[in-house]
Amino acid sequence: MSIDNNFINEVKDKANIVDIISNYVDLKNNGSNYKSCCPFHNENTPSFVVSENKQIFKCFGCGKSGDVIKFIEEIENVDFIEALKILAEKLNIELPQNNKEGYSTYEKANAELKEINTESARFFYKNLINTPTAIDYLKNRGILPEMIKEFGIGYADNSFDLLNMLKKTFPTESLIGSGVFVQKNEKIYSRFRNRIMFPIFDSRNKVIAFGGRQMDDYGPKYLNSPETKIFLKKDNLYGFHIAKKNLINKSIFLVEGYMDVIKMHQFGYKNTVASLGTSLTIEQAKLIKKTADKLYIIYDSDNAGIQASLRALEIALQEGLEVKVVSILEAKDPDEFLSKFGNVSFEKLLDKADDYLIFNIKNIKNKYKTDLESQKIDFLKESVEFIKKYLNKYNSSHIFVENAIYFLATESGYSIKAIGQDIFGKYFSIKQFSKNDEIERKPSRSDLNKVMYFDEFEIDKKEKMILANIIMGNIELEYFSINDFSTRENRMIYANIFHKNSKETDHLKEYYSKIESEEMYILKKNMRNISLDKQINKFEEIQLRLLESIDESTLDLALTIGQHIINLNNKKINK
Ligand code: UTP
Ligand code: MN
Repeated sequence: MSIDNNFINEVKDKANIVDIISNYVDLKNNGSNYKSCCPFHNENTPSFVVSENKQIFKCFGCGKSGDVIKFIEEIENVDFIEALKILAEKLNIELPQNNKEGYSTYEKANAELKEINTESARFFYKNLINTPTAIDYLKNRGILPEMIKEFGIGYADNSFDLLNMLKKTFPTESLIGSGVFVQKNEKIYSRFRNRIMFPIFDSRNKVIAFGGRQMDDYGPKYLNSPETKIFLKKDNLYGFHIAKKNLINKSIFLVEGYMDVIKMHQFGYKNTVASLGTSLTIEQAKLIKKTADKLYIIYDSDNAGIQASLRALEIALQEGLEVKVVSILEAKDPDEFLSKFGNVSFEKLLDKADDYLIFNIKNIKNKYKTDLESQKIDFLKESVEFIKKYLNKYNSSHIFVENAIYFLATESGYSIKAIGQDIFGKYFSIKQFSKNDEIERKPSRSDLNKVMYFDEFEIDKKEKMILANIIMGNIELEYFSINDFSTRENRMIYANIFHKNSKETDHLKEYYSKIESEEMYILKKNMRNISLDKQINKFEEIQLRLLESIDESTLDLALTIGQHIINLNNKKINK
């Protein structure tokens, strides 16, 4: 598809970067420029600058910069063409009509296919509400009504109602082209019959395809839309439209199936996506890299899942993602695991995630009977070769190599020195190794890391304060959900409290009593046994302080405290 330069220039001319960016962030005038906290990384002190004269933005924290089109690409997570369209829409500029390749006709046709899918999704959703068997099915699988709404889950029946409705508006070829309908012997049928429907959304929240799960034994377990003009399987991730706005520790969680994604979201892991049945593709990894730094692969526990994890690891590493594999134990997939064991156990699995080398080495080990000396040597040899290959990759890290060597030494009983020499040659010594390691530990993006560290520390402190107060009984647990906490440690603590794991909580109580922070001091000293009025005042004080920070997760906490204040006020009135 070609877009002519005139059109691009028209968009750039009409768009004032300050106005456009103001729709997304709160810009403050700062002399000749505008400033705010960067929307692309966490920070509390503004380093994101927009120049009206130059019509560009630049973040001095994370380094992101560019023109107005680039900004839309980054913030909406779309490509250049898509960004142009968004801008054109905002600016009321008509898309070019008389393009040689029929840009506009092409676009119209695609819009129509998306509309058919979106209309179908609406129909399926309404249908579900009226179909007790379908509702029961989801209930039995532990899916909460909120999730049905959030993911637009629906039900496709056996009738021709949808077809008859859409026939009135759309031509037959579009109905077929949308993937929702199939043609057989000159007749049109719905592709999906008696299935629970999972709409697949694009990055602009338009439905582009479906996955349909069987309710009877007819056909495959999951029937998916075919590849269409608007749906290429390799380019899409199920759940990405929600996940990209809900990263946890800058990471995305990757699972296999629709149900896994939904259950993960339900348990607070809204950063979860599925690779739609296939293993991760290069295109999907690129899409993830655009928003996240880290990827946790959480595939099924069967052998197919392990093999798919190995492939996904390779691709994610190649695309520059920090990547780990979580092994699901005692369940077949994350869906079943969460239903059986809950958040606390799941957090423990996350903590035990393996990095690229360790996961591969564990997999190599499984091929050998390592209690036999000769096979143990073979296992070591193959592992050493694997590590050497890894060292040749452009983004290899010595820290991981060190971990792997420790791991191999522990597993085999051979010394670190012996294994190190196998990998690095006979002049290797442990001393030299740790030196290398130190060099590697120097942050490559030093400034960026520092900024992020500081901000994360601030958020972490505030979250810890909230947690401490929950434990001390100053704030009620119900006012928070696991989503209010951004770091894994804090989520774990929350989950622990939630599950009233008393042993852990006692230990935490002790831990918190040692934390010295101003907020803690005020709260601990003043919150217990004081009048409602004073409590309200104190909470308002805390809330104000939280509101001063522009970070989103902090704002959420401030809002939650706001709810608490309202409750205290109600209590006061009812007294
Ligand atoms: P699974 O067979 O593991 O299904 O396939 P699941 O997600 O655990 O589903 P439930 O819990 O039995 O309902 C994982 C994913 O592979 C794709 C789907 O995307 C599915 O979610 N798949 C599987 C298909 O596309 N077609 C199939 O027939 C089976
Ligand atoms: Mn599964």
